[in-house]
Amino acid sequence: MTGGAGRNSADRLRWHGRRHGHALRKGRHALIEELLPRLRVPAEVGGAPADLAALFAESVEDIWLEVGFGAGEHLAEQARLHPAVGMIGCEPYVNGVAALLARVERDGLSNVRVFDDDARLLLPCLPDAVIGRVFVLFADPWPKKRHHKRRFPAKENLDTLARVMKDDAELRFASDHMEFVRWSLDRFTRHPEFRWPARSPKAWRRRPEDWFETRYEAKALAQGDTCVYLAFRRRRRATALA
Ligand SMILES: C[S@@+](CC[C@H](N)C(=O)[O-])C[C@H]1O[C@@H](n2cnc3c(N)ncnc32)[C@H](O)[C@@H]1O
Repeated sequence: MTGGAGRNSADRLRWHGRRHGHALRKGRHALIEELLPRLRVPAEVGGAPADLAALFAESVEDIWLEVGFGAGEHLAEQARLHPAVGMIGCEPYVNGVAALLARVERDGLSNVRVFDDDARLLLPCLPDAVIGRVFVLFADPWPKKRHHKRRFPAKENLDTLARVMKDDAELRFASDHMEFVRWSLDRFTRHPEFRWPARSPKAWRRRPEDWFETRYEAKALAQGDTCVYLAFRRRRRATALA
């Protein structure tokens, strides 16, 4: 991380993934130095950006969140097709952040903001019921049993996501790792705030047209692996929020 947003509290939640890959080319390095500070979500634990919409230069009609955007192709495509939606992406891998920034610059996307750190540091800072859609695409499956506690759809993360999501907001989850899919499905369907409206296998075997292919997914499909696409809904709250 190059001075990412949640650094002060990073000790509390250990990060097990990569933060750096190969050395960045000059242009990508410049994007991290110059563009990222302008797009960074200025959250610190305990200092929530109370009005999330104010992060965006133009008014937005909804805010969507992508956790672990990798190289950002899906996030950038959603931002391009939905200019009235503010997109917040979380990704600690600096090479991935730089790749997203290159797309943002190339396509002139003004509706993208970046949290270049672990989403678990940002989520507790967000206000209640502000996020209209969440994407968790090809999250790390952590296949070894002793690493399962690192899996993102853990109960405490689903609790926090449920808090920040609007009523009936969608959460899209995809993976090519079937044991991880079963594990995650079990967590989502047992969670009191989520429901899974899928009615037939068609609903999860084919990527719907408005889910754009990610880099990880393209690799999995090229190897002949099967991918699963799950769309959950945050249940409506019984009582209106104050
Ligand atoms: C297997 S890669 C998939 C990347 C991308 N979604 C794709 O499909 O190509 C998983 C990504 O999630 C990121 N990630 C994992 N846990 C995360 C977290 N708690 N917050 C933000 N990013 C996370 C990792 O850094 C990694 O880039």
